[in-house]
Amino acid sequence: MSEEGADEGVVRRDRFSGGPARAFMSSLAADERIFAADVAVDRAHVVMLDERGIVESDVAAEILAALDAVESEGHAALPAGEDVHEAIETAVVERVGPDGGKMHTARSRNDEVATCIRHRLREDLLSAVEATLALRESLLAAAEAEVETVMPGYTHLQPAQPTTVAHYLLSYEAAVARDTARLLDAYDRTNQSPLGAAAFAGTPFDVDRERTAELLGFDGVLRNSMDASSARDFLIESVSALATHATTLSGLAEDVVIFANKGFVELSDDYSSTSSIMPQKVNPDTLELVRATAGDAASGLSGLLTTLKGLPRAYNRDLQRATPHAWETVDAVSEATAVVAGAVSSADWPAETLESAAGDGFSTATGVADALAMAGLPFRTAHEVVAAAAERADGTPDLATLDASADEVLDASLFEYVSRADVQRALDPVHSVESRDSPGGPAPAAVAAQLDEAGADVDADRTTLADRREALDSAAERLATEVEVRTRD
Ligand code: ARG
Repeated sequence: MSEEGADEGVVRRDRFSGGPARAFMSSLAADERIFAADVAVDRAHVVMLDERGIVESDVAAEILAALDAVESEGHAALPAGEDVHEAIETAVVERVGPDGGKMHTARSRNDEVATCIRHRLREDLLSAVEATLALRESLLAAAEAEVETVMPGYTHLQPAQPTTVAHYLLSYEAAVARDTARLLDAYDRTNQSPLGAAAFAGTPFDVDRERTAELLGFDGVLRNSMDASSARDFLIESVSALATHATTLSGLAEDVVIFANKGFVELSDDYSSTSSIMPQKVNPDTLELVRATAGDAASGLSGLLTTLKGLPRAYNRDLQRATPHAWETVDAVSEATAVVAGAVSSADWPAETLESAAGDGFSTATGVADALAMAGLPFRTAHEVVAAAAERADGTPDLATLDASADEVLDASLFEYVSRADVQRALDPVHSVESRDSPGGPAPAAVAAQLDEAGADVDADRTTLADRREALDSAAERLATEVEVRTRD
């Protein structure tokens, strides 16, 4: 249909379809994202209208055949329209004639668009979940290879206590596991059907909302029709889960940038970049871009919250501008997740450099205090002895310095409490790590237990993901069968 034809379109009356604000009002280009979802929603609705005798079976069949044609021609071939819903309806009416207009019986674009967004977003959420699982697997594999690799651990970016690369990587795996859980939670509340709510106030037609929900793979129906058409909290929740995950990624990215600067990690060339004029440079650009993605995600969330804040019931066109925040955020964050997974899998952790830095800044001080406390000194007193030694020494104190401090604080020799060998061991970063075998700690045995549990959790989340996907696939098959029995000659 020509632009002019569309102006006098079958769906909008002249008064409402043109004018200088036409492009401003249109979401047709952005709606490409929900083109396939809209075709599916139209199909399920028409099958239900047929089953309920609301639309004649032969008309339903013609509409379904027209939808097949519209689908194969694609979004780019749609006639002009205010949005994808109107354009697809126009295309159907062009093919079927006036009876094509029966497709829009007992619904409104308000419940239609809400259904389409949920239908599409749930797929994107599952892809985001998949990306977090792949990242967790990369972190676990890298950790498994670095259980014995001692490295410095930091607080306030100051050397604090020795730990291992595995323990460090598992700290992020644990955080990403919660990100997965938040995304799956958001999925469950997204996967509810608004269809049949119509504009907001329901419909006098005897619709079967459970049936359309089932045909579209939704887990249930949103109970209240006004809520169903208006609600966009599923967007907030999804984008919030993504922004939280992006914040997790940004912390990991920042660490890797710092570690790369110290020579503690070597990124593969695939995840590095060089300078256009300084040929010696290998820069961690990918991780810097990941770090910045958290800014995009946070702005997506704040854009959504600001747009949705204070909107009156029921439908307002503001909602049209809320949706793109979700698409942009889910794309940016899922891509960043995959990049981090690749960077982690291909990175090298130079053990010698890490181990020799692990004792920097008297990082074993706490271990020496722990050894004194284990020998019966109150921890606070032990802390005082070691603090005095730290003050006397430049770096890690030797045994004589520690003994002098004990003399100062306790008026007794250090070796009345602990053997020389025990102190010597406590000063050794490798022994220091081995000694901290409390649950969740960095000792290789404690890390082995964390690896086991984390691996089992990833497997369980993989099963959940496969179940969700399987439910969507079998719904899509059921819908395809219902369409097919009606359109075959
Ligand atoms: N393009 C619109 C959106 O994204 C579809 C719904 C239009 N409904 C309306 N009452 N104007 O929200």
